[in-house]
Amino acid sequence: MNSIPDIIIAVDGYSSTGKSTFAKMVAAEYGFLYLDSGAMYRGVTLYALEEGIIGADGSIDEARLKKEIGPLDLHFGRADGVTRLYLGERCIETEIRTLQVSSFVSPISAIPFVRNYVDDRLHAFSEGGRVIMDGRDIGTTVFPNAEVKIFMTADEQVRARRRYDELVAKGQTPSLEEVLANLKERDYIDSHRETSPLRRADDAYVLDNTHMTLHEELVWMLGLLQGRFNILDSPGLSC
Ligand code: DC
Repeated sequence: MNSIPDIIIAVDGYSSTGKSTFAKMVAAEYGFLYLDSGAMYRGVTLYALEEGIIGADGSIDEARLKKEIGPLDLHFGRADGVTRLYLGERCIETEIRTLQVSSFVSPISAIPFVRNYVDDRLHAFSEGGRVIMDGRDIGTTVFPNAEVKIFMTADEQVRARRRYDELVAKGQTPSLEEVLANLKERDYIDSHRETSPLRRADDAYVLDNTHMTLHEELVWMLGLLQGRFNILDSPGLSC
């Protein structure tokens, strides 16, 4: 049996299509490092909110952000098999997932120098390969030579409901309409920005998971990898 080599798997797609859940599951199954590129953009956004770089009126002081982003110590830390985002010593995994951060992350991530900062860090963290990374431009810009590229999509209402349930489970209290509006707005900004817009790479496989369970997604991925790398028997799926 051939095992899966040390490749880079790029997972891109619309907001709340379950990219990170899918990527984490594949990472655990095949022993890959999982990196969430959106977390980095969220980390920059949290910093900008906390430091007043994003004003109360929603304006962004780009000149200040440009000055402060260089030395910003955003990094991934790995403990108990889980990768978390840190700002200096502080774990910010929870803080970066609020609706407030979600409301500003698309305009922040459309700024070219922010993208350069994040891209540099993503490359540094991926050194050595065997990485699965999710985001919006991984297969098109960050790793255009990734050996396997997946583009995820799902029905908008289904995505909003999933994100809503996730936020409620974390104790937040958004309305479903708010979540849907944020999702639509982010998809629009992410797909229409000038620098590295969200789009499917020509060589990406499309995964529409509107009617799929997580197990079905994993089986789909197994079939894809078996075909690509000529693997004859299954590793025994764990979910
Ligand atoms: O995956 P996410 O929802 O946590 O990402 C948050 C935002 O970050 C998303 O709305 C757009 C931006 N993003 C990006 O522009 N490029 C990436 N590779 C990943 C995320």
